[in-house]
Amino acid sequence: MEFKDVIYGRRAVNFFDPNKDVPEDLLRQMIETAGQAPSGFNLQPWSLMVLRDKADKMRLQQHAWKQPKVSEAPVTLIVLADTDGWKPGHQFVEKNFSELVKGGMMKEEQRDWFDGVCQSLYGTSEARRVAYACKNTGFFAMALMLAAKSLGLDTHPMDGFDIERVHQEFNIPENYWIPLLMAVGYFRSDKTLLPPKWRKSYDEIVVSFE
Ligand SMILES: Cc1cc2nc3c(=O)[nH]c(=O)nc-3n(C[C@H](O)[C@H](O)[C@H](O)COP(=O)(O)O)c2cc1C
Repeated sequence: MEFKDVIYGRRAVNFFDPNKDVPEDLLRQMIETAGQAPSGFNLQPWSLMVLRDKADKMRLQQHAWKQPKVSEAPVTLIVLADTDGWKPGHQFVEKNFSELVKGGMMKEEQRDWFDGVCQSLYGTSEARRVAYACKNTGFFAMALMLAAKSLGLDTHPMDGFDIERVHQEFNIPENYWIPLLMAVGYFRSDKTLLPPKWRKSYDEIVVSFE
């Protein structure tokens, strides 16, 4: 699929075909493709909970404005952004640093510098911790939707949910922010997709403060 077809073809799809499941290998491919997204220092502070079980999706739906697509899609993802994903001792921070050393991009003696930079960039306030986690996870989430489209799947991102209740319902540790939920499946062919929505033009996007 051409990139232009992927980017223009992706839509937030409201209705999912209840008779068309998402094969496990396709979901894996989608997630691993999206995992190629970039992140600051390659720290990749994202995780996913994959809900397939109807009862689990219903539990989520009751805290997500009762949006039917949460339980109608064959797969619904809870996208997690780890606000601790820059801290020394964290599993993936340690893995990342040793990969940097292995790849010759850092030396063991630079560890204090590395930890100090992460602390000053990402750890000086709650707002920075959340911004760090969510900006990186946002790239991953967009990549998930584009990867899905390129594999013939449809998606729907949602932030219409009660974050505290979703935390509680699924025992999600406090270090995770939940930037969005994402329904994944196939558009229901007996429904009509709404016309494409407006987008800001070049002139509306580009600003100057001088
Ligand atoms: C972070 C995010 C949260 C969203 N939350 C919801 C939601 O809770 N419910 C919903 O119906 N649509 C939601 N949307 C879908 C948007 O309304 C939709 O993407 C936008 O109108 C553009 O339409 P398109 O994706 O079909 O191009 C969300 C989209 C994003 C990116």
